[in-house]
Amino acid sequence: MKYSLGLLVLFVGATLVAADQDYEGYRIYEVIPSSADQAHLLHQLSLQGYDFISETRLLGHPSRVIVSPGQLEQFERLVEAENMTHNLVNSNLGASIAEEFAQRQMQRLLAPITGKGRLSTERYYTHEEIINYIDDLAQRFPSRVFVKTVGWSYEKRVLKTITITNGDGKANKKVIFMDGGFHAREWISPAAVLYVIDQLVEQFEENAHLLKDYDWVILPLVNADGYEHSQTGTLARMWRKTRQPYTYGGQTCYGADPNRNFDFHWNEEGASSNPCADTYAGPTAFSEPETITVRDLMHSLADRGIMYLTIHSYGNYLLYPWGWTSDLPENWEDLDAVARTGAEAIQNATGTEYTYGSSTNVLYIAAGASDDYGYYAGFNVSITMELTGAGSIGFNPPVTRIDEFVTETWIGIRAMAEKVIEMY
Ligand SMILES: *[C@@H]1O[C@H](CO)[C@@H](O)[C@H](O)[C@H]1NC(C)=O
Ligand SMILES: *[C@@H]1O[C@H](CO)[C@@H](O)[C@H](O)[C@H]1NC(C)=O
Ligand SMILES: *[C@@H]1O[C@H](CO)[C@@H](O)[C@H](O)[C@H]1NC(C)=O
Ligand SMILES: [Zn+2]
Repeated sequence: MKYSLGLLVLFVGATLVAADQDYEGYRIYEVIPSSADQAHLLHQLSLQGYDFISETRLLGHPSRVIVSPGQLEQFERLVEAENMTHNLVNSNLGASIAEEFAQRQMQRLLAPITGKGRLSTERYYTHEEIINYIDDLAQRFPSRVFVKTVGWSYEKRVLKTITITNGDGKANKKVIFMDGGFHAREWISPAAVLYVIDQLVEQFEENAHLLKDYDWVILPLVNADGYEHSQTGTLARMWRKTRQPYTYGGQTCYGADPNRNFDFHWNEEGASSNPCADTYAGPTAFSEPETITVRDLMHSLADRGIMYLTIHSYGNYLLYPWGWTSDLPENWEDLDAVARTGAEAIQNATGTEYTYGSSTNVLYIAAGASDDYGYYAGFNVSITMELTGAGSIGFNPPVTRIDEFVTETWIGIRAMAEKVIEMY
């Protein structure tokens, strides 16, 4: 064990994601630790710059990791020395990404989008289409739907919230605040959020009970720059961070991890101070205009804010604070009850299993995340939902399965909202 960890140190510099890259020959492995030593080894790999697309500390639960051709020999040696169960799930990530983009190009040729009317769940949308869509909803349902500009990304893309009400005109209702698209490559996140918007607005009668005493405020796409960047081509597909440039040792690396950039125990644990790392916390807390926007929204809503819900992918987790410590917040039993309700509702409906618990206890300690901040800012319930993954790329179901995933997600979100409304 000690020997294998020692070996890792040699590879630190080589594994950081400094720029867009071609994933030719990169592999994805599923690894299942069965002992504390094995789990520890995996966590060491992630700290050394291996790109984990899902990572848990729970024994017997799978994590997935991207392994570059340069890392392959070391990786195989380590998992074999530790006897860790590992399965190859993708033997060439570059080819899968290329295939996904080719399909996307084809779809866009066949069905150009204007962003008017209901959005289908047949593909992933651009930032502009998402904005057009919520603007159009506000025009079509002027008594129930309100859109507001709440900020601008680093590259000056507009950030807008959509507030969904039941139109009774009552002010100061309690609030459920939801966001998506923190991490650029998690395309299913904004897709799931758009589906929630569609249900609350277009299926209003069916969901009126969710809007009786509550308004929903939704920011569908936090990291607009990163998301757009990840759609520019195959080389950028796995982009995670924002896009503000930072120089480091004469090299320019882009962006901070927005989910490590919040000013609550910022950069104490589970984040990197290296601008070229994928979990870069930023030079200071709230260095990114996108996280400032979320912060300001949280504070403006906090006195009415009951639940904050942030959608990521993937791993099938419903997580609550804290992420910066293994301690639990005072009302953790309430948080647990909400998360359990979401997990049960999904399991009952589709059989998909979600694991729930506090972020630190289920995943790993990581400070500066938005769920900790939202809870600290005054939301009584704060949940990070890591959606189900599928397909060989790992984050995103192929377009043919978006519908299945977003409808399943909605079942969990609706059940959690019902529970919160019953409790608060
Ligand atoms: C791995 O398994 C082999 C054969 O079962 C065993 O001899 C060896 O001690 C194991 N190694 C570790 C680190 O558990
Ligand atoms: C799930 O099904 C079980 C067994 O029928 C039931 O007791 C439970 O209330 C259901 N939970 C939800 C959230 O639907
Ligand atoms: C929600 O949290 C706030 C801030 O901690 C607290 O003042 C309020 O009493 C809580 N609301 C309920 C209904 O528990
Ligand atoms: Zn994420």
